[in-house]
Amino acid sequence: MIPPDSILHRTLLGTQQQRPPFWFMRQAGRSLPEYRELRSKYESFMHFCYTPQAASEATLQPVRRFDMDAAIIFSDILVIPHAFGQGVSFVTGEGPKLDAITGKTDAKKYTRFDVEKLAPVYEAIQRTRKELPKEKSLIGFAGAPWTLLCYMIEGGSSRSFHKVRAMMQQQPELFSEMTDRLIDAIAHHAIQQAEAGADVFQLFDSWSGILSEQEYATWSIAPARRIIEKIKQKCPQLPVIAFPRQSGIKFLSYAQQSGANAISVDDSVPLEWIHEKLQPHIVVQGCLHPEMLAGDTHAMLQTAADIVENLKDKPFVFNLGHGILPHTPIENIQALCHYLKGIRLV
Ligand code: CP3
Repeated sequence: MIPPDSILHRTLLGTQQQRPPFWFMRQAGRSLPEYRELRSKYESFMHFCYTPQAASEATLQPVRRFDMDAAIIFSDILVIPHAFGQGVSFVTGEGPKLDAITGKTDAKKYTRFDVEKLAPVYEAIQRTRKELPKEKSLIGFAGAPWTLLCYMIEGGSSRSFHKVRAMMQQQPELFSEMTDRLIDAIAHHAIQQAEAGADVFQLFDSWSGILSEQEYATWSIAPARRIIEKIKQKCPQLPVIAFPRQSGIKFLSYAQQSGANAISVDDSVPLEWIHEKLQPHIVVQGCLHPEMLAGDTHAMLQTAADIVENLKDKPFVFNLGHGILPHTPIENIQALCHYLKGIRLV
């Protein structure tokens, strides 16, 4: 692989650039008409994800339109449970559906990680890398164990997280075994993505914010540290962004203990806190609220400028606090990209 020389890569390794690099979580997908058109040719979302040509095209679409500094490979965090043999499907309007793991007997069915199933993801990365301008990063990703277990045990999205919490509290050994297996699989998937041409990796722990301080240390930070150690043994130059969503002040212990190069934050902490507490320890990515991006253009640009003003003195990556919402006006994304491209810090 040619060593990358992208503004995002350099920022993540800790050198400040002329302007903050930017990309947006969920930048590919339903906010784009060209995505909806491409997606309509495939019945199932998983089939779409596993078709390298389609996944690669969906990855490139937002970059062609908005010229972000990075593409994120079009896939899903649920490909890992799928590669363990768990049934995963998506019902329009209802989100993901998985064959829920209810106890030991179910868990035993899913102990073998069949990485072959993920070969189309790596092929999509290879194809995309060839098409993507060399000054842009290609981001690989995976879900973190806690977030994957939320879906694997709940059988889909949840509001209460009752079942996954019950298993975590009542069957800690089983929970720990499943976490260990996921750690190995996630690290392996990350390394395979890097070998295929991804030059940045992001770990999504979308549900870490609901954990108590002790649970957070055990089930979010500790697994992340082990995943990142394994990745760094094989790929020491691969920057890792961690996204433990809605962590509030727990972002600090995550930043100090996980070994990640950067932490992706949101509005669960004030900008001054991010500047004073987090930026001395780690590169920060964030943190425009996706609803702001979907709302009034003028107010959105002011909020974006406020974020930049507060965080620009240290290496910083502009992003959202969570994924782009499907109803986001294209003009707003355009206006934000135009503003970010025009920033000159030095
Ligand atoms: O542009 C990108 O960011 C790359 C693609 C990407 C998808 N999912 C595509 C997708 C990424 C990075 C993800 C991550 C993901 N998937 C997360 C972590 C980030 C987060 O949002 O917290 C999670 C929790 C999932 C699980 C998942 N996948 C859910 C809950 C859903 C249904 C709800 C929804 O947003 O639609 C999905 C489906 C999904 N993943 C879609 C897309 C574009 C929509 C499917 C469709 O087009 O029919």
